Amino acid sequence: MNSIIIGGAGYIGSHVVFELLNQGHQVTVFDNLSTGSRKNVPASATFIQGDILDEVALQSAYQSSNFDAVFHFAALKAAGDSMIDPGLFAKQNISGSINVLNAMVHNGVKNIIFSSSAAVYGYPKYNPIDEKHPTDPINFYGFTKLEIEKLLKWYSQLKCIRFAALRYFNAAGYDPRGRITELERNCANLLPIVMETAMGLREEVLVFGNDYDTPDGTGVRDYIHVTDLATAHIKAMKYLMIENKDLTVNLGTGIGYSVLEMITLAKDITKRKIPFEITDRRPGDSAELIATSKIANQILNWEPEYSELETILQSMWKVYNN
Ligand code: WQD
Repeated sequence: MNSIIIGGAGYIGSHVVFELLNQGHQVTVFDNLSTGSRKNVPASATFIQGDILDEVALQSAYQSSNFDAVFHFAALKAAGDSMIDPGLFAKQNISGSINVLNAMVHNGVKNIIFSSSAAVYGYPKYNPIDEKHPTDPINFYGFTKLEIEKLLKWYSQLKCIRFAALRYFNAAGYDPRGRITELERNCANLLPIVMETAMGLREEVLVFGNDYDTPDGTGVRDYIHVTDLATAHIKAMKYLMIENKDLTVNLGTGIGYSVLEMITLAKDITKRKIPFEITDRRPGDSAELIATSKIANQILNWEPEYSELETILQSMWKVYNN
């Protein structure tokens, strides 16, 4: 297959690029390098630097080849920042996605695999969360992801665009074969902060609350290895092309781990001190967010293979410690 990976120089996009190339597919990466790294793009992929807000650049990228599918990862993802500057997130995430979709219609590209998020669910009414759970985002980032999912439904109905909306829980880890070495920049997520603390780049991890209704009082999340996410994306592409049906699935492991469990295991794996301090809860956080991915397991025949915590943390430490 011949695909264009929008945001393919980023953390998740680059892992999908490597998986696609591994499986013999043709890949073009379109990225503005605002957060992604050119070094993450292998020589065997075609690279076009551009921004999804630049319709002319997008149009010429689509005309550069006859693409079977679009993988769309380009988005601002810091939930906290989205509550401070919703305009920026609306423009980049929603307007940018409208441009991606319009260029598909204009160039007759029929399939899109979209990077969505568990953030569309908001506060969990039950765990593990399935795809029937109400979608009621509590941050503007989650709102943008849900709005794009709604756009996908309309473009599917009106323009026969086939879409797979993949709702990730907590993406983590790095390529087990060590081919991706550029770290995410200014990442506000727990595991990169734990790794930076183990490296001595931070004094301590601030643990956002230990008074949640969880076994040790700290937040519980479902961490899914980015390579497991990548294989799910490729299975989703094949599903769209073979079944010619739309798909919205959760991608997680069904197992949750707390902040303190993560810190403890990271200390074992890195053999470094990882000081932490309990502070107030972070607004918008919930106690527990765990996925059920039964639909992905059944429809895509997808099972996580790299999402054991040790594998996640060892693969991260290998990159951070270099
Ligand atoms: C995990 C746990 C925090 C940092 C976010 C986005 C979500 C998705 C994944 C893109 C929570 C705690 C964190 C820290 C801490 N992004 N924590 N100290 O909030 O579950 O999800 O990233 O799709 O949309 O909302 O991930 O890694 O920020 O937090 O105690 O310095 O770690 O409270 O319990 P989160 P996270």
